[in-house]
Amino acid sequence: MHRLIYTSTATRLLKEDDLFELLDSARAQNSAEHISGILIYHEGCFFQVLEGDKEAVEHCYERICRDGRHTNFIQLANEAAISRMFSDWWMAYRQFVDLGQFQQKQFIELRDLAKTAMRMPVVDNLKANAILRAFLYSFRDLQLAS
Ligand SMILES: Cc1cc2nc3c(=O)[nH]c(=O)nc-3n(C[C@H](O)[C@H](O)[C@H](O)COP(=O)(O)O)c2cc1C
Repeated sequence: MHRLIYTSTATRLLKEDDLFELLDSARAQNSAEHISGILIYHEGCFFQVLEGDKEAVEHCYERICRDGRHTNFIQLANEAAISRMFSDWWMAYRQFVDLGQFQQKQFIELRDLAKTAMRMPVVDNLKANAILRAFLYSFRDLQLAS
């Protein structure tokens, strides 16, 4: 099992319809490749978790990076994982407004740390990692909601 988490910047503002179209085709492809995860979009910033077999996740990420709809890719994690965190979702989707207050704060912190990472060679990895783990853990009940 492998997990890859990244943030990126939309090259143009996406409307809800655009996002649902994107999600429809991503889910079809992900279910065929057994890739689960979550996508969050807020003010031109994407945050996505991809989890599945290492090769499938890496191929999916390569495709995603070739997509002209976004740019400025920052990997927050690319690691072996014991189990899936979003096992019931070929690609769950959350808007910023759907997140809890604490999740919103963590999302903004992660987005800002990723922006800093673009400018500075050294990222505050420990801090980013701690926020990332807490953020992911906060979705632990999402599986039950399906
Ligand atoms: C923010 C974002 C997230 C995406 N997530 C996925 C995804 O989870 N799975 C997927 O197959 N494609 C996803 N896509 C679409 C891919 O970038 C790509 O368009 C699609 O896989 C088709 O690739 P191909 O034309 O090289 O076959 C995403 C695109 C964007 C902009």
